[in-house]
Amino acid sequence: MESETGKTEARPVLGLLAEFDGPEGLRRAAAAVREAGYARFEAYSPVPVHGLDAAMGRKRTKLPMLVLGGGLAGCAAAILLQWWTNAVDYPFLISGKPYFSLPANIPVAFEMIILFAALAAFGGGLALSGLPRLFSPLASVPRFRRATTDRFFLTIDAADPKYDETTTADLLRSLGAGAVETFEQPATTEKVPPVVIAVAVVLIAATFTPPLWLLKARYTRSAEPRVHLVLDMDFQPKYLPQQASPLFADGRDMRPPVEGAIAAGAVIDNEALLTGETDGKLVTKFPVPVTRELIERGRQRYDIYCATCHGLAGDGDGPTSALAFEREEKDWGIPTSMHSELVRTQPVGEIFRTITQGIRKMPSYASQIPVGDRWAIVAYVRALQRTRMGTLDDVPEEIRTELKKKAGLKKEKKEEKEPRMNADGRK
Ligand code: HEC
Repeated sequence: MESETGKTEARPVLGLLAEFDGPEGLRRAAAAVREAGYARFEAYSPVPVHGLDAAMGRKRTKLPMLVLGGGLAGCAAAILLQWWTNAVDYPFLISGKPYFSLPANIPVAFEMIILFAALAAFGGGLALSGLPRLFSPLASVPRFRRATTDRFFLTIDAADPKYDETTTADLLRSLGAGAVETFEQPATTEKVPPVVIAVAVVLIAATFTPPLWLLKARYTRSAEPRVHLVLDMDFQPKYLPQQASPLFADGRDMRPPVEGAIAAGAVIDNEALLTGETDGKLVTKFPVPVTRELIERGRQRYDIYCATCHGLAGDGDGPTSALAFEREEKDWGIPTSMHSELVRTQPVGEIFRTITQGIRKMPSYASQIPVGDRWAIVAYVRALQRTRMGTLDDVPEEIRTELKKKAGLKKEKKEEKEPRMNADGRK
């Protein structure tokens, strides 16, 4: 090929290009070339040609295997990361649940399978189609331009072991090729443009920034937050409590409340109901009417919120607690029994306060249980306690006489002691 200056440059021949008139000719030629023992050849056609892949002896693409590999890698990465962070690096017991359990980790694993598989399909597709080479040497052969309109081409690679410029060309002509010519490595300036190099250097340097940043955060100590994500929220011009302000006549930035104003959430009417205290003293009487409905509600709420630790009957042996013992969790505190002397003698206000504020190892339930339900639970706790220390006086009048009659009869017969019974009259 002649360059623009007229000098002939010896450029490496890459192969032979043969042009065919129609799909049928191309397919037959492809089959014959394969028959003749060539392995490195390629067909180009402006339209899909049925049976061409089979004639060329093409194998299935490797892409599905790449995608499968990507998916499996994503799954393994997700499971390993979750297992390592939750069960190894920072084990944290929450309600006696296992540190690692497969079902809890499936959503993340699922997402990572999709992500890695999609990336493998994207990257694999690019790699299999020959990137990072950005052009085809055929693009510089003028004849080849018709490959996208009305001509069919077959190329045989010069790297093929059977390749020989004359015999291979003869073979192609004998197969009905209209034109056969060699194609070469196109002339390119060897140098990569400096802009590309500069961008690459910056990008490579930038990839080191996140790991370095993480290392710094890990190994330096400071009271400051490690990262100020939202600068204008961390550093805003605002008044803090007890600061001076030139804006107001008295020079203080904190303004006194307007005369007669009441703070939101202030206890204004029923202190006993809302806090379990009056004038700093715990209440001993329920600030709500105690009805059968209230106790039933309390039972239901107790079973939901308290029984998991304190046990259905209040003995402090709920399933969460049992599990912690089974695992020999050193940090687990034994939930107090509702039948202990301590809780039995507590004023109702104190039990209410325990639910509201939590106590030592027991968290506060104020955000989950509304005030009314808290009192219902206290009423049910009292009922639970009665089941172990009830007297005949707890039993309604008419049942009591009935029971007394029976007890009397029994006494006469067997000389038995007083019968035990459910204090709140339930069966
Ligand atoms: C997560 C487990 C857990 C749950 C749920 C729980 N508790 Fe507790 N509770 C404890 C533990 C542990 C203690 C003992 C705290 C200590 O003494 O360190 C305790 C102590 C108590 C005490 C005794 C407080 C005292 O004065 O010593 C009462 C009363 C009590 N709980 C009531 C309740 C009620 C009512 C509920 C339901 C709203 C409830 N708890 C839910 C774990 C729990």
